[in-house]
Amino acid sequence: MALRVLLFLAAAISNTVSTTDHIVGGNKGWNPGVNYTLWSNNQTFYAGDFISFSYEKTQHNVLQVDKLGYDSCRIEGALGNWSSGKDFILLDKSKRYYFICGIGGCSNGMKVSVLVHPLAPPPMSAVSAVHSSEKSVAPVIVGGFGSSSVVLVRLMIYVYYWI
Ligand SMILES: *[C@@H]1O[C@H](CO)[C@@H](O)[C@H](O)[C@H]1NC(C)=O
Ligand SMILES: *[C@@H]1O[C@H](CO)[C@@H](O)[C@H](O)[C@H]1NC(C)=O
Ligand SMILES: *[C@@H]1O[C@H](CO)[C@@H](O)[C@H](O)[C@H]1NC(C)=O
Repeated sequence: MALRVLLFLAAAISNTVSTTDHIVGGNKGWNPGVNYTLWSNNQTFYAGDFISFSYEKTQHNVLQVDKLGYDSCRIEGALGNWSSGKDFILLDKSKRYYFICGIGGCSNGMKVSVLVHPLAPPPMSAVSAVHSSEKSVAPVIVGGFGSSSVVLVRLMIYVYYWI
């Protein structure tokens, strides 16, 4: 019983260490006139990370499209759509994702493509990635874990084998 709780905690904490939320456009948000290619080239995405869009929901939205949709601002056949104004989207696969604004903004630059890498980095580099600017720990997760959580996970693993 106690062992199960320990394992659950260890899993939960190691997830918090490796999950990053990438806020599209940083403090410029999801708006016309921002070069999102520059933004995405300056980030490293790993499977399991989140991408989040913050915008005025009466004016914009978010559609996931394919490369053709991205290149030509075509909304037909969208793979997904979001319109809450604060959308958190899980990047669960290692592939290139394409997002555009489906209400006008795409031709004014509201398009972003992100290449998601297969593996989360090892815990120590994940900790520094989370601490770098323009990134924050995803809000689904209780914040406040630092590098001490890595130590905690190790400790739990030791306890597990010791039992
Ligand atoms: C964004 O910046 C890159 C690098 O300077 C440039 O090649 C690209 O054309 C720009 N995109 C737009 C839409 O201005
Ligand atoms: C957005 O999603 C809804 C519900 O899944 C669907 O009915 C609608 O056609 C979608 N819109 C676009 C532009 O894909
Ligand atoms: C890239 O990220 C660094 C560190 O967060 C920041 O100082 C720099 O302005 C960013 N560059 C662009 C083009 O967004």
